[in-house]
Amino acid sequence: MILKITPAKSIQGIIEVPGDKSISHRALIFGSLCEGQVKITNFLPAEDCLSTLECLRELGVNIEQSGTDVTVHGAGKYGFRAPAGPLDVGNSGTTLRILPGLLAAQPFESTLIGDDSVSKRPMDRIIKPLSLMGANIQSVEGHAPINIKGTQLSAINYQLPVASAQVKSAILLAGLFAEGQTSVSEEFKSRDHTERMLSYLDADSEFAGTTYTISGNSTLKAKPITVPGDISSAAFFLIAALLMPNSKLTIKAVGVNPTRTGLFDALKDAGAGIVMTNKRLVNNEPVADIKISQSLSTTIKPLMIEAKDIPGLVDEIPILAVLATQLDGTSVISGAGELRVKESDRLKSIATQLNSMGANIEEKPDGLVINGPTKLKGAEVDSGGDHRIAMSLAIAGLIAEGQTVINNAECINISFPGFKELLDGVVGSII
Ligand code: S3P
Repeated sequence: MILKITPAKSIQGIIEVPGDKSISHRALIFGSLCEGQVKITNFLPAEDCLSTLECLRELGVNIEQSGTDVTVHGAGKYGFRAPAGPLDVGNSGTTLRILPGLLAAQPFESTLIGDDSVSKRPMDRIIKPLSLMGANIQSVEGHAPINIKGTQLSAINYQLPVASAQVKSAILLAGLFAEGQTSVSEEFKSRDHTERMLSYLDADSEFAGTTYTISGNSTLKAKPITVPGDISSAAFFLIAALLMPNSKLTIKAVGVNPTRTGLFDALKDAGAGIVMTNKRLVNNEPVADIKISQSLSTTIKPLMIEAKDIPGLVDEIPILAVLATQLDGTSVISGAGELRVKESDRLKSIATQLNSMGANIEEKPDGLVINGPTKLKGAEVDSGGDHRIAMSLAIAGLIAEGQTVINNAECINISFPGFKELLDGVVGSII
């Protein structure tokens, strides 16, 4: 699919963005482990989450889905059955990395496969800790396909070498089946949706600073789950509003879990005005309405983002790079080497594509140096099959001169079905 973007002057409206991708995956997986019915509201019916849903169905879980409404008929920790064939995760790294925690403890063998992009993503980071728990996992030189022969696991205390919520979640999931208490610690806290959901579903578990411990005796209690709007999807609209003078935008019911709001912190440090109202806790996840109270002006300083900030905004770097092209001065993003092993090499993709639109971005091994401001020009660009690159380029297109043509834009459906329609509905007068 080709996405054509024409310049716009402002963004106006009160909108909602689709449900959070990370929480939707977890609601399906942990819902399957509950005893009884788990009703999920505002589920994200995007390709990645549907891959998790199909894998769980293959494992014998009865799941009804109609758009954003899902009912998982949880059969408890021991209700899974051997799949008839390989489990296909599509493009979903989260499915590929988290499900092995469950599969490693089942009394059957399973194989996980995925598309070319996901098959390039490093899997050693989960194979190593799960093997320490006794798991029997074979990969192809650290990549998918992954073959897992289920076995009895034992608990570990694990310090994550890389802050990764996917790895942490795989270990905690395995910990639910292991003999003893499994704990995971990390230096910089990655998103904690798994921990919050386990606590909400009454797992025998506890938080202590950045260490989370779960008991292998835990059972999960079926409860309803409402998925908050995805802050990573909201980010595209927030930044578009910041970039276009006279914008007035409110995004309702967005997840504002502090492990995900690094974007707000970075923007606040740079002087941007973002206001959160109506803050509440929904199934143990903080949710709020977000308003942009000030568009881009000279008061926004260049961005300075370093290693300790990355886990809180890991998926927002491409769209922050778009913003930085318009800021007065040099923005520096460092400690972001993880972005090279996402759906694409995101440092390379965003630098190359934005530079082809006239930006001045220097790629570093672990980050970007962005010199602004530069006037962007419409160009023919390519997402490289990466949904967050495609949407970042769409926002860049709104402030560019002339038309921007984005090739390979169908990948937007990986995380944000309806992105173009929502954008069309809020952009003010098209020039
Ligand atoms: C995710 C965690 C992040 C993020 C990904 C979703 C999750 O990956 O980039 O989009 O749902 O746990 P890492 O924690 O592995 O960096």
